[in-house]
Amino acid sequence: MKILVINGPNINMLGIREPGIYGKENYETLLTNIKEWADELNCQVECFQSNHEGSIVDKIQEAYGVFDGIVINPAAYTHTSVAILDALKSVGIPAVEVHISDVTKREDFRQISYAGIACEEHIIGKGLNGYKLAMEYLCNK
Ligand code: DQA
Repeated sequence: MKILVINGPNINMLGIREPGIYGKENYETLLTNIKEWADELNCQVECFQSNHEGSIVDKIQEAYGVFDGIVINPAAYTHTSVAILDALKSVGIPAVEVHISDVTKREDFRQISYAGIACEEHIIGKGLNGYKLAMEYLCNK
């Protein structure tokens, strides 16, 4: 099982960014955790982060035929990007949506998830551990 973990804009600012909402752990810690979880689950993992919508679309397209599963936190693009939704639908790779914070309890504009339409599982508000749960879901499929 080869998993691609995609993070959208500002996820690389973890630890600095609104710690009351996203926690105190930084992006490097998230990357280290993801590698450890991949080892535990006996799967391969690659992590990708971008602040650019088109780069995320490119990465999803490049995943076709290479990765067996995608874990995606599109961050703010969750709520705006039909292009990311269409890219996920285009490649048809099983995908899990992750949000660190509980978006269901936040602003109205966060209540829509376009990317989520193309995802078969949604892990919301579980902090960084949400990525682990998403990886477990894909590995146990
Ligand atoms: C987020 C929630 C989004 O609404 C926000 O724009 C983010 C992070 C989360 O992980 O909780 O950047 O996706």
